[in-house]
Amino acid sequence: MHEPIGIFDSGVGGTSIWKEIVKKLPYEDTVYLADSANAPYGGKTEKEILALSIKNTELLLTKNCKIIVVACNTATTNAIAQLRANYNIPFIGIEPAIKPAALQTKTKKVGVLATKGTLSSSLFHNTSKLFAQGITIIEREGKGLVELIEAGQTDSKAMQNLLAEYIDPMLEQNIDSLVLGCTHYPYLIPVLKKMLPGDIKIIDSGEAVARQTYAVLKKEGLLSDRKGTPTHIFYSNSNTAVLENLVQSPNSEIFSMDF
Ligand code: SIN
Repeated sequence: MHEPIGIFDSGVGGTSIWKEIVKKLPYEDTVYLADSANAPYGGKTEKEILALSIKNTELLLTKNCKIIVVACNTATTNAIAQLRANYNIPFIGIEPAIKPAALQTKTKKVGVLATKGTLSSSLFHNTSKLFAQGITIIEREGKGLVELIEAGQTDSKAMQNLLAEYIDPMLEQNIDSLVLGCTHYPYLIPVLKKMLPGDIKIIDSGEAVARQTYAVLKKEGLLSDRKGTPTHIFYSNSNTAVLENLVQSPNSEIFSMDF
């Protein structure tokens, strides 16, 4: 029960989920893999995404992780079923927050910004079919956004132009909720707030994932009963500067490593 929570993502974006996990589970150690050398996952084939997810899982298992959070929408939608079938520990995935958006929309129009890999997955289609009956989902691939975030550009002119290209058509179609279907995108909330009318709700999955992680650890008897300061270890297979800038936690150590 004192083993760490393992978390992996195609890069730095999953730290948006890590932050929610640390808030909800403040005494748990964590190990985070930023597979930035292979980012973005969004344009890769299902087979490639599965192979990368297995590589990350195997590495987290060598760190004795008791649970793995797949902090990447694209890896969740394309690989989590196989991971759950092949490994004997719990996996938590990230699904686009279609359900809460569908429950609160008044215009019955919901925008979803996600990667090609997520939007084309059967998990995404099944979730939309199940939870968004009677709602129009306006999907848009956020091409190029992950690359800019990985480069530390969350509010550059290039980012603003891309976002305007993707979001303006959704606004013309009268959305009142925008689902961020990629764990990198919460880092765009400040710039989105400047661009969007104040009554548009921006919805991401971070808090729900942290709640689910807590619930599964509790159910499996895996919650740590230590009350000391936890350690948070990060491994990146690319330049660590952007990761360091996003994490900024006193109990964390960031290492560069090939994987
Ligand atoms: C990507 O690597 O393309 C984005 C990761 C995600 O879908 O959360």
